[in-house]
Amino acid sequence: MFRRHLPRPLPGASDFVNLIDIGNYFYFPEASPIRTQVAIIGGGPSGLLLSQLLHLAGIDSVVLERKSRDYVLSRIRAGVLEQGSVGLLEKAQVAKRLHAEGQIHTGTYLAAQNRGFRIDFDALIGAQVTVYGQTEVTRDLYDARAAMSGQIFHNVDGVELHDLDTGKPFLTYHLDGSAQRLDCDFIAGCDGFHGVSRKSIPAGILKEFERVFPFGWLGVLSKTPPVSDELIYANNARGFALCSMRSKTLSRYYIQVPQDDPLEKWSDQAFWDELKRRIPEDAAERLVIGPSIEKSIAPLRSFVAEPMRWGALFLVGDAAHIVPPTGAKGLNLAFSDVHYLHTALIAHYDGQSAALDAYSQTALARVWKAVRFSWWMTGKMHRFPDQTPFDQRIQEAELTYLENSVAAQRMLAENYVGLPY
Ligand code: APR
Ligand code: PHB
Repeated sequence: MFRRHLPRPLPGASDFVNLIDIGNYFYFPEASPIRTQVAIIGGGPSGLLLSQLLHLAGIDSVVLERKSRDYVLSRIRAGVLEQGSVGLLEKAQVAKRLHAEGQIHTGTYLAAQNRGFRIDFDALIGAQVTVYGQTEVTRDLYDARAAMSGQIFHNVDGVELHDLDTGKPFLTYHLDGSAQRLDCDFIAGCDGFHGVSRKSIPAGILKEFERVFPFGWLGVLSKTPPVSDELIYANNARGFALCSMRSKTLSRYYIQVPQDDPLEKWSDQAFWDELKRRIPEDAAERLVIGPSIEKSIAPLRSFVAEPMRWGALFLVGDAAHIVPPTGAKGLNLAFSDVHYLHTALIAHYDGQSAALDAYSQTALARVWKAVRFSWWMTGKMHRFPDQTPFDQRIQEAELTYLENSVAAQRMLAENYVGLPY
């Protein structure tokens, strides 16, 4: 099946009346419509990775991103990469810097009641994770798309999805003030939780599952050496804390705060003092503090939308699901969707559409396992406002069991490093 063609005006577009009846009104694009095989809404990590993998397979795509490249790259996001994610980035030919600058972690520390213990991924299941910031992953993807002349339109407004169930889907949008149209075979909704794609699935079809946690994470980025060579997840009576990093000179720390806490309440000094109270004493003594170069509070929620396909539309990443950051699954889950969708699209253009038809079911099976793990980890490591002394003892018993059980540690390890695709 002929796979590759370049975006071009529709056949006969020159005499194309350019009056397009899309329901209630005629749409008059000033520019001739362009066509591609896969229209991708969203130039975040999932949209960019999908575009890159499709390109390498000879399948054409166009990315529509509402923000500028610099704005997208200004976002500070977690960067613990599962082995599967590293493999996908290698397949996408964007892993060179990742391997040069990323840090291999063969384990992580958990701490409870001032006592830390290590989960040894390598000894338990022969696996590891790579710490490499999402911002850098996104930068590498943008650079790769530019080097291969990828079609990415920034500062796009008013994207709308049309004719998803007619076999002739298209997008309309505004760029530089003029109305545009993009005809395509398929649409990948990589536009995140607040995007337009999920909302384009009919209300009677879409099911949403959500749990909002009664607390948030206050995060600080500082140009200080990390307190530990691997991450420390700390359960403490005062609340959860996490010690992470971006490099050997850039540290990332979090403490659990009430979900309505104002950021202004937290000076740098107040943050450092509270972090020291929650992490094991030896780590607190080693902690190097410094001015925050980024400080923000993020809410925690679990969210899943079903189905992840409606007609020609396929939801990918945060557009379909959100996980609390406790299990470091957000980016990795977006990438597992990209794995399933890009392989299914390649098979489709080779004449085999079964995987594409099964995309929602296949992706959701792994999504729910990651959502479960993230929910489980969040429940074990945080203080809940309505927590009773009984709940507290159960949490402590869970963590003591985890500290002393190889079977329990193996469960955590295989979920944390990433279940197989
Ligand atoms: N039109 C065009 N672009 C849009 C629209 C729209 N209507 N709505 C959102 N976008 C863009 C956003 O500006 C953003 O750049 O879609 C992109 C979505 O990117 P992400 O939100 O990063 O989602 P995703 O690519 O799935 O990556 C998931 O990002 O949010 C983190 O924790 C999450 O690590 C995970 C990763
Ligand atoms: C981070 O480094 O930002 C980070 C790491 C692990 C997590 C969450 C966030 O579970």
